[in-house]
Amino acid sequence: MPNCPTTFLEHKRCVVHIARKAAESMTEFMGNALPIDLDAVIAGAILADVGKLLEYEKVNGKTQPSRRGEMLRHPFTGVALAIECGVPDAVCHIIAAHAAEGELVRRTTEAYIVHHADFMAFLPFKSLEK
Ligand SMILES: [Fe+2]
Repeated sequence: MPNCPTTFLEHKRCVVHIARKAAESMTEFMGNALPIDLDAVIAGAILADVGKLLEYEKVNGKTQPSRRGEMLRHPFTGVALAIECGVPDAVCHIIAAHAAEGELVRRTTEAYIVHHADFMAFLPFKSLEK
């Protein structure tokens, strides 16, 4: 996003904290009806964008979108990285389903939480764009 007033790291931190607090509130009020794996939520929120590191490359000192990133958005490359590292399937599912691609799958409760936390910490900035 051109001239974005926040950083990727601030976004990531915000998503993790929103997701954790949302999961805790949901557990407090609906825990008997809706069990939530808080560890999966936190791990998924931390790792959801790990594939972003493959969406860009440095060419002559300038960062630009990579060919791989154009072919495979970060939910796909993120899952590939996570599986290679032995990340549990429940967390890989969150990585896979956190973005728009997740509209096509049946999200777990944990994936819904991370998806909404991610969009809460992203979409308002889209509205600031002119
Ligand atoms: Fe993402």
